[in-house]
Amino acid sequence: MWDPGKYLDFADLRGRPFFDLTARIGAQTPRRVVDLGCGPGNLTLSLAQRWPDAALEASDNSPEMVQAARAAGIAAELLDVREWTPKPDTDVVISNAVLQWVPEHRQLLERWARELPPGAWIAIQVPGNFDAPSHALTRELAASARWAARLAEVGLREDDAVDTPPQYAERLAAQGCMVDAWETTYTQRLAGENAVLEWITGTALRPVKAALDEQEWQQFRRDLAPMLDRAYPPRGDGTTWFEFRRIFVVARTPGGG
Ligand SMILES: C[S@@+](CC[C@H](N)C(=O)[O-])C[C@H]1O[C@@H](n2cnc3c(N)ncnc32)[C@H](O)[C@@H]1O
Repeated sequence: MWDPGKYLDFADLRGRPFFDLTARIGAQTPRRVVDLGCGPGNLTLSLAQRWPDAALEASDNSPEMVQAARAAGIAAELLDVREWTPKPDTDVVISNAVLQWVPEHRQLLERWARELPPGAWIAIQVPGNFDAPSHALTRELAASARWAARLAEVGLREDDAVDTPPQYAERLAAQGCMVDAWETTYTQRLAGENAVLEWITGTALRPVKAALDEQEWQQFRRDLAPMLDRAYPPRGDGTTWFEFRRIFVVARTPGGG
């Protein structure tokens, strides 16, 4: 289950890659703009502001997120990204920080490139940090003698959850797209106690939380906190540097002039 409140705790830092991504979309007057995995809708609103004349379509497969997006004024629908197909007037499709949860997203990208009209824009961003200490230590703890039995069924993502920028670029170029792919490592300054633990609670730790009861979850957090503190030592002023690599791909389908 997604917790929109927890996810929005770091809205500013989580929002920045979205704006870096969408800045590279060159559409002037798109007919329809789609936000797949729109989350709580706070970033979707910026799409309505940028393209006020476009039909805006937003969806997410979490009922809690759809509810939060609707409360933010977005007419979001409950839909799995795997089920989405473009309407004929879809000129822009964005999926920010979603496709890392969808193993078959590589084939989805190819299908979208084939089904979208000529000159349409596809813009995606996925985390590229699955081998970072925050993820590696979570996997290490989950596999430890204390937790392995409880968490055996929890699929914690390895670094093959996403591709490299050239792999995405090649896949979409093979569909005839013009492609702009890159990566950025953000050096984020997180504030507060257990800052990295709090950061990953809203995203990467969700499957762990969902598999445990409340008492076990609090114990898992207590076990993980000192491991994260060693990997990401808090500074004298209580803030913590947290490097976050992200992968961006903006592609344009062929025939757009
Ligand atoms: C990290 S949040 C990103 C939300 C928003 N795009 C943003 O940038 O703030 C990931 C979102 O992906 C959604 N999601 C995960 N798997 C999905 C799927 N298969 N279909 C649709 N949405 C999905 C989650 O419900 C969640 O809202």
